[in-house]
Amino acid sequence: MSLTIAIDGPSGSGKSSVSREVARRLGLAYLDTGAMYRAATWWCVRNGMDLDDQPGVAGLVEHIPLVMVTDPQAPTVHVDGVDVADAIRDSAISTAVSAVATNLVVRAELQARQRAVIAGEAVGGFSGGQGVVAEGRDITTVVAPDADVRILLVASEDARLARRARDVHGTDDAASVDATRDQVLRRDADDSTVSQFHVAADGVVTIDSSDLDLEQTVQAVLSVVQR
Ligand code: CDP
Repeated sequence: MSLTIAIDGPSGSGKSSVSREVARRLGLAYLDTGAMYRAATWWCVRNGMDLDDQPGVAGLVEHIPLVMVTDPQAPTVHVDGVDVADAIRDSAISTAVSAVATNLVVRAELQARQRAVIAGEAVGGFSGGQGVVAEGRDITTVVAPDADVRILLVASEDARLARRARDVHGTDDAASVDATRDQVLRRDADDSTVSQFHVAADGVVTIDSSDLDLEQTVQAVLSVVQR
């Protein structure tokens, strides 16, 4: 039997670390759909595409040579044979990604590829085969509304900004949180125009990670899975 666990949440909710760890413990594949939108953005920039050129962006991303390696021990992303796992975390990509992710043709293309991975048709170098943990903004609602387990991971704005500051700047002192605030909140606002990820849809279990560390959040997810 194949298990699908869908986890959505905003930036800094902890969904990537938590999803990856849950996948590792359960022996499932791990699909980071945000990395796919980031990779699409990287590909557009690499090809000199004007990100405001919606048809141009759509045409390019429809044929993106993207391979998602879904092994939770070593997940990575290849575009045209290049490992872009580090490049897609660049601040320039974080700033630009919403412009690409709000393109509806891009969304349809990447959602179709996500469904193929979830269905086990495109496992991208991982032969787990027992199922998948897929995380993003619209997995519980649009990509896999029939998933066996659907979770919305939320956290207070302060907790999210502090986490993101630690990820990007290595510290959550006031200056680092300030430097993070604009980008995270603007991205949340832009992303909210196409995905609903602040309020749980019907049947989706909300977990608030504001006061939980990684292990506690993983345990909270596992307890929902075991219900
Ligand atoms: O860095 P963070 O964890 O906040 O985001 P991410 O999961 O790496 O996703 C990067 C961007 O991809 C988001 O800001 C959205 O614009 C887009 N995204 C999306 O539109 N739908 C998804 N299912 C996942 C990500």
